[in-house]
Amino acid sequence: MNTLRFNLNGRWVEEPNVAPTTTLLRYLRDVRGLTGTKEGCAEGDCGACSVAVVENGPDGRPHYRAINACLVLLPMVQGKHVVTVEALKSGEYHPAQQAMAAALGSQCGYCTPGIVMSLFEATYREDLKAPWQLDDQLCGNLCRCTGYRPIRDAATAVAGSCPKDSFSAALPESKPGSMAFHHEENGQLFATPTSFDELWSVLDEHPDARFVVGGTDLSLEITKRFQVPPKLVSLEGLHELHTLKEGPTHLLGSAVTISELEDFTATRLPPVHRMVRYFASRQIKHRGTIGGNLCTASPIGDLAPVLVSLGATAVLRSRQGERRVLLEDFFTGYRKTALQLRELLVGVEVPALAPATRASAYKVSKRRELDISAVSAGLLVEVNSQNVVTLARLAFGGMAATTKRATNAEQALVGHPWSEATVDAAAKAITKDFTPMSDHRGSAPYRALVAANLLRGFFDETSVTPQPRLAPGHAATVLTAEEVRRG
Ligand SMILES: Cc1cc2nc3c(=O)[nH]c(=O)nc-3n(C[C@H](O)[C@H](O)[C@H](O)COP(=O)(O)OP(=O)(O)OC[C@H]3O[C@@H](n4cnc5c(N)ncnc54)[C@H](O)[C@@H]3O)c2cc1C
Ligand code: FES
Ligand code: FES
Repeated sequence: MNTLRFNLNGRWVEEPNVAPTTTLLRYLRDVRGLTGTKEGCAEGDCGACSVAVVENGPDGRPHYRAINACLVLLPMVQGKHVVTVEALKSGEYHPAQQAMAAALGSQCGYCTPGIVMSLFEATYREDLKAPWQLDDQLCGNLCRCTGYRPIRDAATAVAGSCPKDSFSAALPESKPGSMAFHHEENGQLFATPTSFDELWSVLDEHPDARFVVGGTDLSLEITKRFQVPPKLVSLEGLHELHTLKEGPTHLLGSAVTISELEDFTATRLPPVHRMVRYFASRQIKHRGTIGGNLCTASPIGDLAPVLVSLGATAVLRSRQGERRVLLEDFFTGYRKTALQLRELLVGVEVPALAPATRASAYKVSKRRELDISAVSAGLLVEVNSQNVVTLARLAFGGMAATTKRATNAEQALVGHPWSEATVDAAAKAITKDFTPMSDHRGSAPYRALVAANLLRGFFDETSVTPQPRLAPGHAATVLTAEEVRRG
């Protein structure tokens, strides 16, 4: 048993007695009286609960990151620095607050602290260059009175301004410390091991414990279904799982967050980068992980289709050793995976893309930002010098109980010329591959049509460049050939 210790608004606090399934949001409001952080939805959608934590960035330096306090369990901030809206006004109002006031961005006031915390992160971002990045920065903050224009003006005024103030001065000293934590009491366990030996020991004693990392999926059981998972083992403290390694086969560690993945794949794996651009909100991307996304085995999880299309392999590890499974075989049924008891996903290995390989990814949802897919697709073909398709991997989400390849459509492509006629035949064959369901996200015929049209759109886009990237002002799913040309 060790004491929970983290830095809150510049002061180290210790919490020996708080239940480990308490969310950071409830703790801030109920225990600390920091009621500037609001509860709106308690499910990661509205951003009213946004606070900042300090995390190490890809450059190895600490950075402020906005996260949703409603989905973070208290032990997940062990050793970290947390900043709430109350700490922003030190003497003068913070530039993010000043910008919101000057632009008249604060209207109902309820969502304002969360918006200010997103702008707080944006203030210290050195990589905020393009307007679409501002959309991404703000899409996790809901303004119900539609005051987006002034909020957007405030963001434009302050984002990337990187002031030399007490917050930037504090950053170098705020590197996250060890996350090691073990709380066991009255049948409840929360452990964050920092080595595999410790992990195996905890699992030997508690074989029924469940893994958690970002908690963006699992915490909903607590906040929406009011359940208390009795035994949780966080994998966040295992350094190796945060690995991002470039090579002929890239290694993506399972505890790598979606925002880290977004940065890593920008130049290395454009189809993955394109998919994660419209994955959740920035707050969720800072906590959600590759492993969490794949291990929920959701048929509408966004990473699986694109990674399957790229030929990824899942690396699994238990006390008995390591094994590798093709990612497409990792999903064994609706929300079921090949993982055995006490086995975890270490990461995925993804072959580097040859420059001539045509590959892209698509997400179709009712809303562009912060929405769940109705259909998603990862599509890859290789075409030889005679313009004949030699390999096709067409993986779809939202079309079956698991992410699934369209094998009939693939057969209609391989051995045939990469032409509009072939693609049309393959698009028709997709109807044989799937019997999609109808739900509030789309009817079965709609899904079937979307899947077929995504393949047609893929053909169009890749006729210009093999791995098309989203253009800066891009708002739709498929780029027109003209848009691809313009870049
Ligand atoms: C508002 C909101 C928006 C979202 N938007 C999207 C979206 O656009 N697209 C999308 O695909 N998803 C979305 N999600 C779902 C979720 O954020 C992602 O699936 C995320 O990647 C989960 O990662 P996590 O680390 O938070 O998972 P956790 O909640 O920590 O874990 C999820 C499950 O995976 C298991 N697990 C985690 N890591 C491992 C491992 N290494 N080995 C074995 N088991 C493991 C856990 O035991 C748990 O059962 C959204 C969620 C929210 C709340
Ligand atoms: S309360 Fe709505 S995102 Fe947390
Ligand atoms: S400012 Fe709160 S809903 Fe618009």
